[in-house]
Amino acid sequence: MKTVITYGTFDLFHVGHVNLLKRAKELGDRLIVAVSTDEFNLQEKGKTTIVPYEHRVKVLESCRYVDMVIPEEGWAQKEHDIQKYAVDVFVMGDDWLGKFDELKSLCEVVYFPRTQNISSSEIKNALSVLAYINKELT
Ligand code: CTP
Repeated sequence: MKTVITYGTFDLFHVGHVNLLKRAKELGDRLIVAVSTDEFNLQEKGKTTIVPYEHRVKVLESCRYVDMVIPEEGWAQKEHDIQKYAVDVFVMGDDWLGKFDELKSLCEVVYFPRTQNISSSEIKNALSVLAYINKELT
């Protein structure tokens, strides 16, 4: 069995996430997604999410490409996860290009091109603009 793993926040689940997960699953038989907890996002990534951790987990668990969801609670857990789950391939979008090359001693490392013109941040910005326009019109 070939195991693939990827990491991320996956807030406001969108087609860029779907494309990444589909391509990741195609590399093996089992796809594990490590989802950043709210605490890790806030304390280490400086991110607040619209969708809380437990809901992001449920969304990912219901995605057909995802076989298992685990929490991402720290930067240093990747080596441990790779060994614990006998991971063959580590996948990230190419916004992280080169950042995880040190894992190549443990498994294959693949960076996929990001889907253009969509991100959780862009959706949040669009929602803010809409909220502002609605406020101005009322
Ligand atoms: N991703 C992608 N294409 C996009 C957006 C995300 O391939 N358009 C990938 C990222 O490269 C990462 C995974 O999806 O491997 C999870 O990314 P995440 O940071 O949760 O999503 P973003 O939409 O990039 O969120 P943000 O705007 O907060 O950075």
